[in-house]
Amino acid sequence: MGTRLTVPAVRARKARAGGEPLVMVTAYDAPGARLADAAGVDMLLVGDSLAMVVLGYPDTLSVTVEDMVHHTAAVARAEPDALIVADLPWLSYHVSPQDTICNAARLIRAGAQAVKLEGGTGRVPMIEALVAAEIPVMGHVGLTPQSVHALGGFRVQGRTAEAAMQLVESAKALEHAGCFAVVLEGVPADVAGLITEAVGVPTVGIGAGPDCDGQVLVYHDLLGLQDDLRPRFVRRYADLGDATVEALGRFAADVRSGRFPSPQESYSLNSTEAAALGLYAS
Ligand code: KIV
Repeated sequence: MGTRLTVPAVRARKARAGGEPLVMVTAYDAPGARLADAAGVDMLLVGDSLAMVVLGYPDTLSVTVEDMVHHTAAVARAEPDALIVADLPWLSYHVSPQDTICNAARLIRAGAQAVKLEGGTGRVPMIEALVAAEIPVMGHVGLTPQSVHALGGFRVQGRTAEAAMQLVESAKALEHAGCFAVVLEGVPADVAGLITEAVGVPTVGIGAGPDCDGQVLVYHDLLGLQDDLRPRFVRRYADLGDATVEALGRFAADVRSGRFPSPQESYSLNSTEAAALGLYAS
């Protein structure tokens, strides 16, 4: 085990100030966390994309604090060196600061070192409350999937000069409220560049072009484990979905033909015990 990356170390990794770009990937369980950690990623995001990627929901709105606690704990049991950031799900930080702190504390007690929440200036009071309670917060602006109905779908944001300037102001407000980093999702690359210039904390992009201080992708997307949705910003580094179907197909064929299991893949009695049971008697 190496040294775990800390929140202050992430805050200091402003690529435009000479820091190395941050690498974040989602993780939802212990094996995924172990593999991503072995690959040397900086941060594991227990994203509420859990809802769509693992739990089969059409959007992220159905995932609960209980779901997030369960999966955050599984990721934490892998004891990664990467910093664990857990998403606060929809409605867990919209009602009151007290509620927000209690929900975030459950994620921290499950093993996260920081929480992430979606939204701009409207979230400032909740972020300030969390920071005052010593809970590090990562912001998230642009295409915020928990606002899918308010946005009218999963659409790229900040396409007009006015909308772009609102995103810049939102990111600055998040920084001033105490966020140690901000995810930029689904915004034009030029706008992500403007935001990255405007804030002193690192930006981590997804569908936001190259001018961010880091990049995040969903584990299942980059490994080719899901085919139903393939946005243009996803680069596939493997086709594990196809490889998995092929391997499972070979297993099924071996079982059906009697080729699995072989004697080498089975346990056997020693000859004395086998004889006592009347086995092998001719
Ligand atoms: O839940 C998630 O996977 C996310 C990333 C898309 C940033 O929030």
